[in-house]
Amino acid sequence: MKLLRFIAIFIGIAVLFSSCKSRSKYVEPDNEVGNDTIVDNHSYANLQAINTIHLELELDVNFQNKTIYGVARHEMVNNNAKIAIFDTRNLLIQKVTTGKNDEEQEVDFVIGAMDKDSILGQPLTVSIDPKTTQVNIYYQTTKDSEALDWLDTLSTSSKTKPFLYTQGQAILTRTWIPLQDSPSNRFTYNATVKVPQDLLAVMSAENPKEKNNTGIYNFEMDQPIPSYLISLAVGDIVYHPFDNKCGVYAEKELIANCIYEFEELPKMMSAASSLYGAYQWKQYDLMVLPYSFPFGGMENPRLTFVNPTILAGDRSLVSVIAHELAHSWSGNLVTNRTWDDFWLNEGFTVYFEQRIMEVLYGKETSDILAQLEFQEMQEEMKEILAGKHPEDSQLHLNLKGRNPDDGMTTIAYIKGAFFLKTLESKVGREKFDRFLKHYFNVFQFKTVSTAAFITEMENNLLLSKKLSFDYDEWIFSNGLPKNSVIINSSRLKRMESLAKRFSAGENVFEPVVSYQWQKIKNSKKKKRIKIVSKIKRDDFIVQEWQTFIRGLSDDISIVKLQCLDATFNFSTWGNSEVMAEWFVLNIHRENRIIRPAIEKFISKVGRRKYLLPIYKALASNPEDKLWAKKVFDNSKAYYHAVSRNSIAKLFAN
Ligand code: BES
Ligand code: ZN
Repeated sequence: MKLLRFIAIFIGIAVLFSSCKSRSKYVEPDNEVGNDTIVDNHSYANLQAINTIHLELELDVNFQNKTIYGVARHEMVNNNAKIAIFDTRNLLIQKVTTGKNDEEQEVDFVIGAMDKDSILGQPLTVSIDPKTTQVNIYYQTTKDSEALDWLDTLSTSSKTKPFLYTQGQAILTRTWIPLQDSPSNRFTYNATVKVPQDLLAVMSAENPKEKNNTGIYNFEMDQPIPSYLISLAVGDIVYHPFDNKCGVYAEKELIANCIYEFEELPKMMSAASSLYGAYQWKQYDLMVLPYSFPFGGMENPRLTFVNPTILAGDRSLVSVIAHELAHSWSGNLVTNRTWDDFWLNEGFTVYFEQRIMEVLYGKETSDILAQLEFQEMQEEMKEILAGKHPEDSQLHLNLKGRNPDDGMTTIAYIKGAFFLKTLESKVGREKFDRFLKHYFNVFQFKTVSTAAFITEMENNLLLSKKLSFDYDEWIFSNGLPKNSVIINSSRLKRMESLAKRFSAGENVFEPVVSYQWQKIKNSKKKKRIKIVSKIKRDDFIVQEWQTFIRGLSDDISIVKLQCLDATFNFSTWGNSEVMAEWFVLNIHRENRIIRPAIEKFISKVGRRKYLLPIYKALASNPEDKLWAKKVFDNSKAYYHAVSRNSIAKLFAN
């Protein structure tokens, strides 16, 4: 009863505010109705018959019971359909109506069974008539709504205010909004969001810059986007603009660090635009989330979500920002049609990211980053080829019956990027850039399948086979083609050799004494001076140290590891990339002295890229596994479901 009253009050408020809402006026949505070639194995929606072109959300965010009470109003294009099927997962559906606000009528609906592997959730089938173009779903989220991360006050930087953020990609938007959750459909949206008065709400839309005293915020995204890019963050956050187009939101405790770390954002934006065409989304802001965020970054349009581990203090991890910014073209403007085409999002983005890094920091630096990633991909490639699904090493995937998350490997990212780099080296940069610009232009605000990309490449780059390039091998065969470009950074070679020499017992970090003759001023004589040189941590960039750590031999002694840590403080450096790599090596060598540092790190940082290898290494040894399970049990309520579920699998057997 109480709940109903609550919803009634909320609806009242929403109606009051509905006059502020305006309908989409920007770009015609990419209306896919009637296009029966699209099969999305990860959505129940009957998109060929009926699809959303505009979504209006009314959300009441309740921190007391960690629930969002919502109404999702779908404006649809109906191709004579008698049912509309939506995706849902762990939502409570209260009622469904058709018609606009003043002429709403309740209609029948059925919630179908969960798929057998519990990946897709439950279809919500609504009875409509062939003329229906408006379907309104009244619902609330549950404690199992996996997109949502509700953080208690103590898990935030302020330690005084709670926080909520969402993570939609790949198929989690259906856990907080009932909708047609397929990247093949784009729609515009607006939202009225009610939050506690001391918190600010921001979305992947036009955003407020500061709190108001009503706690009610209106949002508009007037450019059509796929469902996985709808996002919301609510917290005690402040905004700092870098210029009139970009800035950063964060808790005030982090904002000074953000200002330093991301100061070059305007430069990145101009670099990106001059490469592949104007930035189309008006505003580009960053939202620095709490540490539990399971990713490094997430490209929600106009508002990239960022993990605070990127705040390394020395701008050494800003390539993540270049990556998310690049998604404003590859991914957000031109979107993978299904999750089997995920490489079109990520491979293009990594390629683009490297090009931005090259403009800002030079080719040597971007090569170092690319080579490091290439090594990671080669490692994972070996595992994939030896595993249950060697076909996952192909760029185009077949994830039918599997979780689209399975496709989130370095194959899509790095093999994808190296495919494009190889293509570039074949046709020349100028021509390749012209093609990419054309590609972003032709498919803007649309979705692309691998087949559509291939046709475009043949017609506009390879000129119908005048230039031969075996793209089939890259896209549809296992492993890495032999013609792949290879990067050889001399700086990384030096680090590898330093690591080898150190592993072999040479004390490469001892001070080295040498003598030099120096002219004496105003005299013809020279004097001999003593020079003591010693390798310092600052002599090399983070990625060089990562290469050093990777280059240490597999059987390096614990004594040597401790000596390195005493000299360079890898365990406490504060650079998450180095720390994660260092911890994994030490776990494999059974160096348990650094357990406190590991525990501190994995109880604070929720980024799956770090947690998974660390927990995996721990779980591979019975003694460590027992300890790791305890740490996991203490932290799992704090981790986002994305990380928690992945780690839980390690302890399942
Ligand atoms: N879009 C991805 C994150 C993602 C992919 C979330 C698939 C859920 C499903 C984002 O752009 C990304 O790739 N983030 C990377 C950073 C990047 C520099 C490779 C990450 O978080 O590690
Ligand atoms: Zn990405």
